[in-house]
Amino acid sequence: MKPIPKDKALDSTLALLREAYNFIPNRCGRLRSDMFETRLMGQKVICVSGEAGAAMFYQPDRFTRQHAMPPTALLLLQDIGSVQLLDGEAHRRRKQMFMSILKPDSIAGLIRLFEEQWHSRLKQWENAEQVVLHHEAEQLLCGAVCAWAGLTLTDAALRQRTREFSAMIDGAGSVGPRNWTGIRLRSRTEDWIRSVIVMIRAGHMQVPEGSVAQTIAWHRDADGKLLDTEVAAVELVNILRPTVAVARYITFAALALHRYPQARERLLSGRDDDDAYLGWFVQEVRRFYPFFPAVGGRVREEFTWRGLHFEKGTWVLLDVYGTNHDPRIWKDPQTFRPERFRDWNASAFNFIPQGGGDVDLGHRCAGEWLTIALVKTATRLLLSSMHYEVPQQDLRIDMSRMPAIPESRFVISRVRHVFHTAPPVIEMQAGQDLPKAQGAGGLHGRRDIGNEGHAA
Ligand code: HEM
Repeated sequence: MKPIPKDKALDSTLALLREAYNFIPNRCGRLRSDMFETRLMGQKVICVSGEAGAAMFYQPDRFTRQHAMPPTALLLLQDIGSVQLLDGEAHRRRKQMFMSILKPDSIAGLIRLFEEQWHSRLKQWENAEQVVLHHEAEQLLCGAVCAWAGLTLTDAALRQRTREFSAMIDGAGSVGPRNWTGIRLRSRTEDWIRSVIVMIRAGHMQVPEGSVAQTIAWHRDADGKLLDTEVAAVELVNILRPTVAVARYITFAALALHRYPQARERLLSGRDDDDAYLGWFVQEVRRFYPFFPAVGGRVREEFTWRGLHFEKGTWVLLDVYGTNHDPRIWKDPQTFRPERFRDWNASAFNFIPQGGGDVDLGHRCAGEWLTIALVKTATRLLLSSMHYEVPQQDLRIDMSRMPAIPESRFVISRVRHVFHTAPPVIEMQAGQDLPKAQGAGGLHGRRDIGNEGHAA
C-alpha cells in the first residue's frame, strides 16, 4: 500500500477559499489520487473523492459532524444542537422527526402552496420591466414554507424573513462581511422563531394541528423531554432556511433551460416519457451545477480503509462537487445531459449533491425529496405557465464563490402569464431564447422586481 499523497503547502486554507469547488478535484488531479492529506485552518485533514470514498464516508455511525465544519459555516447552516450534530440513537430519533415532516406524501401541501404563490406573483412579474428570478424564487419559497409550517407573515415580514434566510445561505461559504451579515441576520430569525416556540407551548399562538411548527414544538427526544427552546428554534429554522435555499437550484434550472435548448425542446415535446425526462433534468441540474463543495466528518471509532488507519478524531472531507463530476462515474461530466439518468444505477454513493448513504440511518439530507419536487414544479411552471425573455446579462458562475450563483441571479423580462385550460398547450419555440410575446411599448415605466433589499 502506497502512503497517502500529501499536498505540499504548509496550510491550504487560502487555496480552499480561492479554488472552492475545484480545491479537492484540482489536487486529486495533480496528485493522481482520489485521496490526499492536506492542512486546513492549521489542522490535518484527509480529502476523499469518488464513489468508493463516499461509501467509506457514509458507513452509518462512522463519522460525526461535530467539529467537522468551520464555525463560520456551522453557525449559518445546521447550528449547535441540530440533528446534524447528533450521533447514534439520538440522531436517529431526531432524524425520524424530520423524515415524518418531509416524507413524499407530507410535502404535497407545500408544493401546492408554492405553485399557488407562483401563479399569483406572476401578475406582478407581468407588470415589471425585469424580474430577478433568484430573489423572487427565494421569496416565493419563504412564503410557501412559512405558511406550510403554520407561520403567518405580513408582506413586510415576508420580505424581512426572506432577506434573513437568503443572507444565511449566501454567507455560509465565506469569511468576512458576507458571513457576518448572515450571522447578524440569523440572530433576528432565531429571536423570532424562539418566541414562536414559546408562544405555541404556552398556548398563546395557535398553529394548525400536525403543522411543522407544532410537530417541532412538541417533539420529545429519547429522554422524553421537550427540546430546549433554542434547539427547537434551530430545527424549525432547519426546515425553513434550506427550503429557501432551493431557489439556487431553481435558478440553475432556469439557466439550464436557457443554455440547453435541446433539453428544453425535449421537455416540451409532449412525449409519453416527459415526466421521466423532467426527473432526469432535475437530477442533472443537481449534478451539474455547484452547491455544496464538500461535507466534513470526524472519525468516531478508529478504522482502516485501503490500508490507511483512520484514528478517532481524524478530520475527513468528502468531495461532493468532484464526485458529481468524476469521469469514472459520469461520462463527459462537464456536459449537461439529462438522459444520462435514464441508465443511472441509483447508487447511494455516486451522486451526492445532498449527501449520500441511507437517509434514515445517516446524515444524508432530509429534504432531498422536497428539493426535487420543488425544482420539478418550478421547471414546469417556467415552461408552461409563462412566457418570458432572457435579456443580455452576466450569467457567469464564479466557481471560487461558495455558494455559487449566476452573477446576474438570472434576470427575465416581458413576462406573460399563459393560462391553460387542461391540458397545457406549450407555445414556446425550442431553440430560441424565448418568444417575443409583447411589443416594447407596454414596458415603459415598469420597475424591476426581485431586487428590493438585495445586494447585487
Ligand atoms: C437546497 C438544496 C439542498 C442542498 C444542496 C442540501 C444539502 C445538504 C447536505 C450536503 C447535507 C449534509 C449531509 C451530510 O452531513 O452528510 C444536508 C443535510 C441536511 N439537510 Fe439538506 N440540502 C438541501 C435542501 C434541504 C431541504 C429543503 C431541507 C428541509 C426542508 C433540508 C434539511 C436538511 C437536514 C435536516 C439535514 C441534516 C441531516 C442529518 O444530519 O441527518 N435540506 N443537506
